[in-house]
Amino acid sequence: MNEKATYIVMLGPPGAGKGTQAKILAEKLGLVHVSTGDLFRENLSQETELGKLASSFMVRGELVPDDVTIAMVKERLSRPDCARGAVMDGFPRTPAQAGAFETLLAEIDGKVDHVPFISVPNDVLVERLSGRWMSHSGRVYHALYNPPKVKWVDDVDGSPLYQREDDKPETVLHRIKVYYDQTSPLIEFYRQAGTLVEIDGTKEIEQVTEDLLEAVA
Ligand code: AP5
Repeated sequence: MNEKATYIVMLGPPGAGKGTQAKILAEKLGLVHVSTGDLFRENLSQETELGKLASSFMVRGELVPDDVTIAMVKERLSRPDCARGAVMDGFPRTPAQAGAFETLLAEIDGKVDHVPFISVPNDVLVERLSGRWMSHSGRVYHALYNPPKVKWVDDVDGSPLYQREDDKPETVLHRIKVYYDQTSPLIEFYRQAGTLVEIDGTKEIEQVTEDLLEAVA
């Protein structure tokens, strides 16, 4: 008999640590990490039409339209590596995306199993995003809280690290506003569904991982 797939939705404001923790959880649980932000950035670096379209929203800190995002996720989840399930990072992000995700999972006899909501105060979010260094492979560092062994160099492949265009302070503040306006209603949606579990994202990275593993066990 086939094992039932597991779907975990990481919820939280920009900079809460969704990407950092989603990567670790996916590896520990043998699931695929699906980050809509990373998928858009990959498309942008490959100069696809989708990448160009997404970038015009991302640089302003706005959300990419729902239909475009949902179609991209549908295609990603249809690939064989997602057969055991996925840790969703940055999706769903609007009530329309959450509804479409329920429908999509129902078609494959799946459901959202756990929704860790990582909460972190706004002032900490700004500090985290302004010190974030990214690798082109999607690994995430922080100048102070999670530094690479050598400044501005990826530990794994030695490539140069970069700062995201949308991590400029003014764009960060707008992204936080967009989160409160468009994404935070999902907290109540998943609380009602009985899948939400609140995680204190101000603790150290390793402690947050332990709390998450306990929450999704
Ligand atoms: P996306 O890439 O998803 O960005 P985001 O949701 O704004 O989240 P971030 O990646 O900024 O933060 P995070 O929570 O992953 O934090 P991280 O782990 O990196 O989206 C970017 C854009 O793409 C959107 O604005 C939108 O335009 C578009 N988009 C994406 N998905 C979409 C969708 N579904 N619909 C429409 N549009 C979409 O950590 C942050 C920093 O803090 C790092 O430096 C890290 O090292 C550090 N850190 C992490 N945890 C800790 C800790 N516990 N203590 C100290 N430091 C920590």
